[in-house]
Amino acid sequence: MPKDYVVRDIALAAYGRKELDIAETEMPGLMALREEFGATKPLTGARIAGSLHMTVQTAVLIETLKVLGADIRWASCNIFSTQDHAAAAIAESGVPVFAIKGETLEDYWAYTDKIFQFEEGTANMILDDGGDATLYILMGARVENGETDLIETPTSEEEVCLFNQIKKRLKESPGWFTRQRDAIKGVSEETTTGVHRLYDLHKKGLLPFPAINVNDSVTKSKFDNKYGCKESLVDGIRRATDTMMAGKVAVVCGYGDVGKGSAASLRGAGARVKITEIDPICALQAAMDGYEVVVLEDVVRDADIFITTTGNKDVIRIEHMREMKDMAIVGNIGHFDNEIQVTSLKNHKWTNVKDQVDMIEMPSGNRIILLSEGRLLNLGNATGHPSFVMSASFTNQVLAQIELWTKGKDYKPGVYILPKHLDEKVARLHLKKIGVKLTELRLDQADYIGVTVDGPYKSDHYRY
Ligand code: NAI
Repeated sequence: MPKDYVVRDIALAAYGRKELDIAETEMPGLMALREEFGATKPLTGARIAGSLHMTVQTAVLIETLKVLGADIRWASCNIFSTQDHAAAAIAESGVPVFAIKGETLEDYWAYTDKIFQFEEGTANMILDDGGDATLYILMGARVENGETDLIETPTSEEEVCLFNQIKKRLKESPGWFTRQRDAIKGVSEETTTGVHRLYDLHKKGLLPFPAINVNDSVTKSKFDNKYGCKESLVDGIRRATDTMMAGKVAVVCGYGDVGKGSAASLRGAGARVKITEIDPICALQAAMDGYEVVVLEDVVRDADIFITTTGNKDVIRIEHMREMKDMAIVGNIGHFDNEIQVTSLKNHKWTNVKDQVDMIEMPSGNRIILLSEGRLLNLGNATGHPSFVMSASFTNQVLAQIELWTKGKDYKPGVYILPKHLDEKVARLHLKKIGVKLTELRLDQADYIGVTVDGPYKSDHYRY
């Protein structure tokens, strides 16, 4: 049988498998789902096209989906985030995977296309992180049906590669995008930025299937985005630069969930942290957490480390980078690379220090150290979040896939959040591992606060 995978080196599979075995011991939520659903296999018949950072933790997610009966094809949702040994272990297990750390943008979209190429002709479920897999199919189908000529006017290198891939598929398989779009029963989306895209599509009447917003499960965004970044941000900066963090001045742009974790990460390492925000509520939170809230222009000359966490575009611009001190470190932990104006640095002198670390000379002669070319540095320069917190995120992902696959017909096109009792279930599955003892609610107490003994314990509008 011809090999149906693209990985850096299949010989890395044994090393990958050892790390998968360790990760399993730190992912109690996923292992509990294997136990609960391994016999009934609720995902039988599901052909899942997965686009999510191909890491060790994702490998445990993939194998859980497989135990539950799904057929799976996988790619990474970022050109720098793959862990090649994890990809090799997955390829060797027989799951088609297309992911290499440092792949080109052209390959990125070719691999995104490959995750839909099941023997049956199409996938019927999408598991997405950032929305690129969903975008590929919906954009392709719209072009195919003459509903947009968007692909004639690409505005970035990213779009050039996406549009070229769409044109290639349109030529090779006329009608395929429409068939593929119509075969999708649902999508589960991992991250804030992808969720924004889904709500936007729905608002414009362009979302043809139901989607579950995994990000806004409490056990996802209030844990992965926050505690995950708290561990993985500084990990990325250290692996990239070995810089002394203590005493340095770091600026974190954005104080949402990722910003809160990132600021805590830097503070924990001894840096003096300043925050920029546009939202008065988050700005007030930052101030009352003890951070100085500033505007970038006022601190850009003096700070040592700059991190964007906003999910917004053009947050650190060329005029900012021109003002920075020599050897300032600049990086992003938000989903896309447009938070920093990297394209406007292209005509400067770049010196590659090592993979995903570049030194760029500014007109003044000052140099900046740019991490992962402005792509999410915790996955580009380090290995992303630790397994335990990803277990909570991915337990939500699996529950979302089961819900959409088994009950998708009950949902109209739209964006949904998993019910609170499942959110509480995900948390519950992670307590034993870290020795948490939960107090049992007494019946009279439950009556008094207006909940049931088995939960849910909070109203839907409670904010944690
Ligand atoms: P969020 O919406 O909770 O926080 C973003 C914050 O940035 C908001 O408070 C917003 O007011 C602020 N903001 C927007 N524009 C700004 C500007 N120009 N200047 C300063 N602040 C600004 O979103 P969340 O969940 O924190 O996610 C942020 C990004 O990180 C998203 O792209 C998300 O997909 C990504 N993400 C990355 C992860 C990683 O491991 N690298 C993990 C989880 C999310």
